[in-house]
Amino acid sequence: GAPVEVDISSLAPGELRTVEWRGKPVWIVRRTPEMLASLNGHDDQLVDPKSERKQQPDYAQNATRSINPEVFVAVGICTHLGCSPSKVNKGSGNPSVPADWPGGFFCPCHGSTFDGAGRVFKNKPAPTNLEIPPHVYVAENRLLIG
Ligand code: FES
Repeated sequence: GAPVEVDISSLAPGELRTVEWRGKPVWIVRRTPEMLASLNGHDDQLVDPKSERKQQPDYAQNATRSINPEVFVAVGICTHLGCSPSKVNKGSGNPSVPADWPGGFFCPCHGSTFDGAGRVFKNKPAPTNLEIPPHVYVAENRLLIG
């Protein structure tokens, strides 16, 4: 499949946009300061906090799993059995998520939760963090995915 170029200049804080790449949904999320802050302080509750299982390009193996901390790019497919997680904020009132989960992404099929960097939370069953596709910025607000 060909790379996909996306203009993210109109992506609002907190917004998730989905584009298709190689037949897969790829999310682009503009993280808010609250979402960025929510990535800290729960490494001991994550299955792979440093993302050592290589579910991302080397340039995204960092604390935010991204090139630009504010912009999160990930394949929107649960690493358990391939359902579609959705973005859920902490305190959403969803009874299926752990009380101490910091918010991020929730998969309704078997209850996996991921933080705002797509890192799988201790309640699993997803075995690995969400996949980060290869991507590059060709301009400040233009992403090339693939
Ligand atoms: Fe997502 Fe099973 S497919 S938890």
